[in-house]
Amino acid sequence: MTINHPSRRNVLAAGAAVAGAVAMPFMARAQAPIVIKFSHVVAEQTPKGKGALKFKELAEERTKGRVKVEVYPNSSLFKDGEEMEALQLGSVQMLAPSLAKFGPLGLREFEVFDLPFIFDNSAELHKVTDGPVGSALFKKAENKGVVGLAYWDNGMKVMSANKPIRVPADYKGLKMRIQSSKVLGDQMKALGAIPQVMAFSEVYQALQTGVVDGTENTPSNFYTQKMHEVQKYLALTDHGYIGYAVITNKKFWDSIPADLRNLVQAAMKDATKYANDIAKKENDEALEGVRKSGKTQILVITPEQKAELRKALVGVHKENEARVGKDLIAEVYKATGFKV
Ligand code: LMR
Repeated sequence: MTINHPSRRNVLAAGAAVAGAVAMPFMARAQAPIVIKFSHVVAEQTPKGKGALKFKELAEERTKGRVKVEVYPNSSLFKDGEEMEALQLGSVQMLAPSLAKFGPLGLREFEVFDLPFIFDNSAELHKVTDGPVGSALFKKAENKGVVGLAYWDNGMKVMSANKPIRVPADYKGLKMRIQSSKVLGDQMKALGAIPQVMAFSEVYQALQTGVVDGTENTPSNFYTQKMHEVQKYLALTDHGYIGYAVITNKKFWDSIPADLRNLVQAAMKDATKYANDIAKKENDEALEGVRKSGKTQILVITPEQKAELRKALVGVHKENEARVGKDLIAEVYKATGFKV
């Protein structure tokens, strides 16, 4: 039997042809950037809006354009109630929903952040998000095909209505718009108000037409959605916190080549620092904007009035132990030094 050894030249030629065939699609692929659609529901001039744009700038710069980030603010791509499903289906690659919006995904533990008066400020909150609780919540999210990349701040909440609202009795019978969190529903009920879950994009009109009487939010969300045009009173209650989890689709995330993924992750880290550094200033300036508009009266809540609110609301913690997790609540208490 004769064996035909291929000549070295033929082998090289064949190899080159194969390499060419393989290299071409790779080159073509390398030229087409990986696109990250980043959808969110707030205005660009907010801590989250600016954080998303900073992430775009850093990720595109550091990957030298191999990753392109398209930011869609103001519910222009997906609104509340749509965006989580869109992420799971891969129609969008990145979101930063408020921590109050993870319940419908089956992640009820995230509602621990909605417990009234559980945090006095962002520093206390960071002790939780930067510690084992923050990591454990992201681990849970992975079971839903979602990777948590960062926690972003907005800030402490205010209440608004068309009548002065200082103490619990003032809230009786008011229809108050809330995010999709049972804890927030219980909070409004504890004040004698009627909670109404509603997408953020619909709040301005609902306030304008009287579908709801009032709402709670941070000053930056309140001002940039022009809610001051349709609400007469804003009470500085600081009764709760709004912050975000920046999340991505796990399959998408794992499909990014490791070198690029590291660059994107580093861009997220720096964008997170930026967003968290500007959050307080953005909210202070927004409150000043509301004040200057002269359309909404700002009510300063006295320590006595705050104590009344706290007394009415703190029972919401116990009421939600089964939903949120008794141990989880205890861990947060420990991290922040909270005492009932
Ligand atoms: C809301 O729905 O009230 C806000 O939390 C929206 C946001 O993303 O800040």
